[in-house]
Amino acid sequence: MENNKKSSFSGRLGYVMAVAGSAVGLGNIWRFPYLAAKYGGGTFLVTYVILALTVGFALLLSETALGRKTRKNPIQAYHQLGAKKLRFGGWLNSIIPMLIVPYYCVVGGWVCKYLYAYLTGAAHKLTQDNYFTQFISDPISPAFWLVVFALLTFIVVIKGVEKGIEKVSKVLMPLLVVMAAFIAVYGLTTPGAIEGLKYYLIPDFSRFSIMTVIAAMGQMFYSLSIGMGILFTYGSYMKKDVDMEKAITQVEIMDTLIAFLAGLMIIPAVFAFSGKGSLNAGASLMFITMPKVFDSLALGHIIGVVFFLLVLFAALTSAISLTECAVATFMEQFHFSRKKAALTSLIGILALGIPTSLGYGLLSWIQPLGMTILDFFDFITNSCMMPISALCTVLLVIKVTGFKTIHDEVASTSAFKREKAYIFSMRYICIPTLIIILLSYILSTFGFITL
Ligand code: TRP
Repeated sequence: MENNKKSSFSGRLGYVMAVAGSAVGLGNIWRFPYLAAKYGGGTFLVTYVILALTVGFALLLSETALGRKTRKNPIQAYHQLGAKKLRFGGWLNSIIPMLIVPYYCVVGGWVCKYLYAYLTGAAHKLTQDNYFTQFISDPISPAFWLVVFALLTFIVVIKGVEKGIEKVSKVLMPLLVVMAAFIAVYGLTTPGAIEGLKYYLIPDFSRFSIMTVIAAMGQMFYSLSIGMGILFTYGSYMKKDVDMEKAITQVEIMDTLIAFLAGLMIIPAVFAFSGKGSLNAGASLMFITMPKVFDSLALGHIIGVVFFLLVLFAALTSAISLTECAVATFMEQFHFSRKKAALTSLIGILALGIPTSLGYGLLSWIQPLGMTILDFFDFITNSCMMPISALCTVLLVIKVTGFKTIHDEVASTSAFKREKAYIFSMRYICIPTLIIILLSYILSTFGFITL
């Protein structure tokens, strides 16, 4: 059995770095800032932090504890815990990464393209307003770059050299943080940026709507990689003597801080370099804002290269761990060899990813539920499937295993300090919020209500 081969992390630091390496990715640097820009700045930020500390913490802890207790992937964990009626929850956990990774690779491809443009001296061209639009609506280019990124990911997965990548990213990730801090500070010194800082930090509750909560909740799942099996798997690698609560708190803080910093780097810069009008740019925000910032800096083209290289690494570690999830499912559930599992994943990534990458140009006539293909995949995973799978995990704990199981697992190594908050959040915050969010978003998407 594959399980025998499961290696363990050396200790808390090993665990925290590995989980943070997979959790910190495009979600923090690309997705968080554009959502914060769009959904009310400070209002979004506060909502996000509250959700991360309550629902996010509760789910991170539940998944990790169940993973460590059962030492199984989510499908087998649900099975072993005897959750007959909830069994589809385990499958849902395992299917979500397969649906995320194709469009994740599309955005990874955009990053490759920008890195390439900086390397070939096209830095100035990238500052033109329609450069990004022209690129993503090109009939071939986005698909080409998707393939480049997917192959990079595939090579690492098939060679099983994640360890090497992990080592490199341990050095590069702190570098990314330093660089983001530097760019943020520089951005803040440009005229107009302070208005952006105020927008980002000071909540204005007149901007609050249920959409703020929906967007923040989806982002929280995405960024912390909740509801998609990955934490079960990492939990199953965690040694029995690691202080779980502390490890999780550190992951949570690190992930949130990096997202916060990315927002600090991008949102004031939007005000200073592009004007408020760009706040609604959505998925393109990072790609249209950052080149303008770099262009105004001495040696900006070099900074551009380093920036996109670091983002590429952050994206790659996440894409690898997403693909690993799919590969592990194929190996453990269907007894595929590693090679066959990796190839199946690659085919899946290309089959879904290529149409997604062309969804702004050649295939822009395909508009599921009135969205671009990328937004559609983003929507069904983050706003529908993840809340459902998170709900399954909450019910698994409340109805099947009981809080005592979680208590025993966490308290076996250290005091369970936030236990009261954990139970309160599971019982009274997770369930109502998840249900309300899910229903309101689905109803509004199908036009039954207007948010
Ligand atoms: N959290 C990652 C990010 O912020 C994306 C992600 C979602 C992920 N699910 C995952 C990464 C599962 C690894 C494994 O970019």
